[in-house]
Amino acid sequence: MNRVHIKTYGCQMNERDSEAVAAMLRGKGYSIVDNEFDADVILLNTCSVRDQAEQKAIGKAGHVSARKKKNPNLIVGIMGCMAQNRGDELVDRLPDLDLIIGTQKFHRVPDHLDNMIATLQGQGPRPSTVIDLEEEAGSQNTIRSHVKDSRQVSAFVSIMQGCNMKCSYCIVPKTRGAERARPMESIVEEIEELAARGTKEVTLLGQIVNQYGIREFPFVDKKSPFVQLLEKVNAIEGIERIRFTSPHPVGFKEDLIDCYARLPKLCEYLHFPMQSGSDRILKAMRRPYTIERFRRIIDQLRAVRPDIYISTDVIVGFPGETDEDFELTRRAFEEIAFDMAFLFKYSVRPGTTAEPLGDPVSKEVKEERNQVLLDLLGQSSLSRNQSLVGHIEEVLIEGPAKRGEGMYMGRTRGHRKVVVPASERLVGELVPVRILEATTTTLSGELVLEGIETGLAG
Ligand code: 5AD
Ligand code: SF4
Repeated sequence: MNRVHIKTYGCQMNERDSEAVAAMLRGKGYSIVDNEFDADVILLNTCSVRDQAEQKAIGKAGHVSARKKKNPNLIVGIMGCMAQNRGDELVDRLPDLDLIIGTQKFHRVPDHLDNMIATLQGQGPRPSTVIDLEEEAGSQNTIRSHVKDSRQVSAFVSIMQGCNMKCSYCIVPKTRGAERARPMESIVEEIEELAARGTKEVTLLGQIVNQYGIREFPFVDKKSPFVQLLEKVNAIEGIERIRFTSPHPVGFKEDLIDCYARLPKLCEYLHFPMQSGSDRILKAMRRPYTIERFRRIIDQLRAVRPDIYISTDVIVGFPGETDEDFELTRRAFEEIAFDMAFLFKYSVRPGTTAEPLGDPVSKEVKEERNQVLLDLLGQSSLSRNQSLVGHIEEVLIEGPAKRGEGMYMGRTRGHRKVVVPASERLVGELVPVRILEATTTTLSGELVLEGIETGLAG
């Protein structure tokens, strides 16, 4: 009764939360299995950002729960954002669910499972659904225990929880609660442990990372707590690359821009959500910046780090988005020439301040606008990749590539995916790779070792 399968939907924060739950369960003698059909316990870690993501997880939970007919001891749980968002209502739809665990209660999963298994083994009546959704002071400090079985070449580190922004379309403040920072020392300690176990790259995670600790910790020498944290991580021996996601244009000041000039481990890659190129829509979205301010930050970043790669999030079809508004988005998107982007069609979220505006932009128009941006993205991403052909890039080898024997996958400092013939020995190493070919999404190349090219890819 101790094999657990965890399926994760949504963002990197969820990936990290699932890792933490897995580590806690391993610590208590559970084993984590990749195949859900081998599992005694199936946990879905869910996302509520768009309706589609919720529907997918509900569908999956229904499917999985149906297996209880054949396997009455199977335990099924829903964790994370949708658990928090829908709570009791999930039991109405899925009466067979065993666990509903909110975003501040991940650390309680092992105890809940222990209890449930003990009851089932005692042949007692099946316990009713456990619902644990309360807010918990200090929950940001419980998501720590990392210890993965294998070395993590690249690791996510949550530095805070929650979000205090009030973007009108967004359900995250409801599902994740108010902003709470972890203490700096504890984050540094965690990254030191990761480095000691061979991790080379860390991505600091938070809803609004640059707001990290803004209420809890003081500015020092006009540097925000987030910048102080970046400096500390930059000083950790063994860590070679630092990334973070996601920052907000509000609070993206000189001290942070300056980091790109002076912290060598901070990668020349930034995920920087724009959401819209129209000031009118930004205002309706309650994003407190203008597109001019957004572009000025990018200009400043490019001034200190001309080779920086910038990715973004854009929502098309926000209520009231006219052709003119979209044209402003299209233009900004084209002029900035993002290297990567996540494009979303607006989805009404219950309980948000945009909910009363309904969903007046038709599906077809959203689809069309999405396609226009996708085409632009394809062009800018391809030309950026093509500009690397013939150059040598530093690549962190993460593991075997999905296809091709002897092929390995890694990423450049700019977060471009590279496929290269290599060997197991190089997993976790930073190696120079000569780029030979480029598509929109992937680069391929050959190792350049001690000045001698291997010619393996030739
Ligand atoms: N509809 C569509 N996209 C959304 N996002 C957040 N809420 C919504 C919504 N209601 C997008 C934003 C955010 C990303 C994680 O998801 O672009 O940056
Ligand atoms: Fe949602 Fe806005 Fe907070 Fe991001 S900043 S999590 S989009 S409310």
